[in-house]
Amino acid sequence: MGYTVLLPAAGSGKRMGADRNKLFLEFNNVSILIHTLRVFEYDQMCKHIVLAVKKEEQEFIEQLIFEYGITKVVAITEGGTERQHSVYACLKVSPSKGIVLVHDAARPFIKQSVIHQLVEKAQQSGAAIAAVRAKDTMKKVDNGIIQETVDRESLWIIQTPQAFQYDVLEEAERLADEESFVGTDESMLVERLGKCVHIVESTYDNVKMTTQEDLLLGEVILKNREREEL
Ligand code: CTP
Ligand code: MG
Repeated sequence: MGYTVLLPAAGSGKRMGADRNKLFLEFNNVSILIHTLRVFEYDQMCKHIVLAVKKEEQEFIEQLIFEYGITKVVAITEGGTERQHSVYACLKVSPSKGIVLVHDAARPFIKQSVIHQLVEKAQQSGAAIAAVRAKDTMKKVDNGIIQETVDRESLWIIQTPQAFQYDVLEEAERLADEESFVGTDESMLVERLGKCVHIVESTYDNVKMTTQEDLLLGEVILKNREREEL
């Protein structure tokens, strides 16, 4: 059984403070976007890749895809103002009605083993998302004053990929759109339908490249991966 991955890549990377979309910044002379695309290009279970991009970046991205021999991109669509709109735009042109994975183009270090567990869990249950356990003590704060210490055992930090049966994600996205509800991830849209979303334990190095420090971290993660592969 295969899956389709939807990759929102239409952001501007404001928090990175670079002179261009952060997805074009490079590790080992290869852009973050290509690193992410390669994960899915090399994964046998991935059948199709759908991208949401900014209109003015589409031509450049098409060139990159050609240059790096990425063959699984079946559709490139225009992204929206919010990430959620970009994901919905991808979903609308998704060629398959099986399992769909949503993954931030800005997370180049996702492991194939986590992807496969997500696909399996989503097949069984409808929805499964990648997450790691919170490591630090967490407190709820209001106006600079602690309200409570939250039980860490029940706290998870959520990442992408988030995997769904097509119909589950389609209904969630459509209703959110009709009701102008904007969530911070796809799971939230499914949760508000009262549906069960499962957790798959991911790795701490599945970092989203967001600020300059993440680039330093990314260099280290990549070096570590290369060493693991030797
Ligand atoms: N994204 C998108 N459409 C948007 C906003 C974001 O497709 N309207 C994509 C980004 O390109 C990225 C992913 O969603 O791959 C995660 O978003 P984020 O890390 O927030 O990236 P940016 O929005 O680009 O960064 P920032 O919030 O710092 O501007
Ligand atoms: Mg953003």
